[in-house]
Amino acid sequence: MAHQSETMNAIVIRQYGGLDVLQYERVHRPVPGQDEILVRIDSIGTNPVDYKTRMGRGTAGRLGANPFPLILGWDIAGVVEYAPVNSRFAVGDPVYGLIGFPQVGGAYAEYAVAHPDELARAPRSIDLAAAAAVPLVALTVWQAMIEAGQLRAQERVLIHAAAGGVGHIAVQMAKWRGAHVVGTASGNNADYLKRLGVDEVVDYQQTPFEDVVSDMDMVFDAVGGDTLERSFGVLKPGGRLITITSQPSQEKAAAFGVKAQHVLVHPSGEQLDQITALIDAGVLKPTIQQQLPLSEAREAHRLLETRRVRGKIVLKT
Ligand SMILES: NC(=O)c1ccc[n+]([C@@H]2O[C@H](COP(=O)([O-])OP(=O)(O)OC[C@H]3O[C@@H](n4cnc5c(N)ncnc54)[C@H](OP(=O)(O)O)[C@@H]3O)[C@@H](O)[C@H]2O)c1
Repeated sequence: MAHQSETMNAIVIRQYGGLDVLQYERVHRPVPGQDEILVRIDSIGTNPVDYKTRMGRGTAGRLGANPFPLILGWDIAGVVEYAPVNSRFAVGDPVYGLIGFPQVGGAYAEYAVAHPDELARAPRSIDLAAAAAVPLVALTVWQAMIEAGQLRAQERVLIHAAAGGVGHIAVQMAKWRGAHVVGTASGNNADYLKRLGVDEVVDYQQTPFEDVVSDMDMVFDAVGGDTLERSFGVLKPGGRLITITSQPSQEKAAAFGVKAQHVLVHPSGEQLDQITALIDAGVLKPTIQQQLPLSEAREAHRLLETRRVRGKIVLKT
């Protein structure tokens, strides 16, 4: 079991701000509490909430007045270094999970502690770098599109930002459910989306989606703002608008005769077990645009902030 004196490399922030607040340092290894698992991290998945929180937005409001020094990040894949007796996991097990969210996750590091309920056995069919890309985005899609939205076979779903971290998993899960999928992306992602199984691609930079899309059973929104506002009108009466960006207007939903709901992801090892099964069955496959060493977390954030990433950016310890 780890002692406080043992150290590790990590990306630490001491204040909210720009890319330069991300510092690669040696810090104390976290020490697992009773019932907690210590994971030796192989890879870390990055998400927009990482840079939003770095800027003092994202989940920063839930971290207390002075959470510093703070280790960002919530998506990990690695190997169990320590587990309590009678735990679901044993030393040496490959695991992955969304940890601590929306409080401190501590993922941008060589070790992190996690509650066993947040972890699942890593898929066998992909490596740990690819596994690290999965938890936050796949759990989001599971909880938003499947649990809250109840997407069913033959339904028509419009997925905004279909080429992004969340969107590319949403496309694959919607196809698995048997839905007809319309996806928005820029023109250079059209072929990629076709390969993923999207039935109709709308280049949102060329055509306002509401000019060519109508009568949808569901809109899955990962863009927000004006895109969210314009989405009410493409639903059929009784349709569902599921957004992961902000609280939708209930007045507007009532005016259009549709349901509108915001979903915030939460950790779940149990749901991740089902996602693992889908990955190992060949139904779900994460796209990794780029792998970078943990020490280059600034570059990962710079790329994410462009909002042009296809799939995911992963950090390797
Ligand atoms: N509520 C929750 O629990 C939850 C969970 C996960 C994520 N989120 C939020 O959901 C959003 C998306 O997350 P993400 O990880 O998918 O982000 P991401 O991977 O950074 O998204 C990048 C993608 O967005 C596409 N895009 C950008 N602007 C677009 C537009 N106007 N219309 C259509 N596509 C557009 C880009 O495609 P092109 O290059 O082709 O334009 C790119 O592929 C973020 O705001 C994130 O914070 C919320």
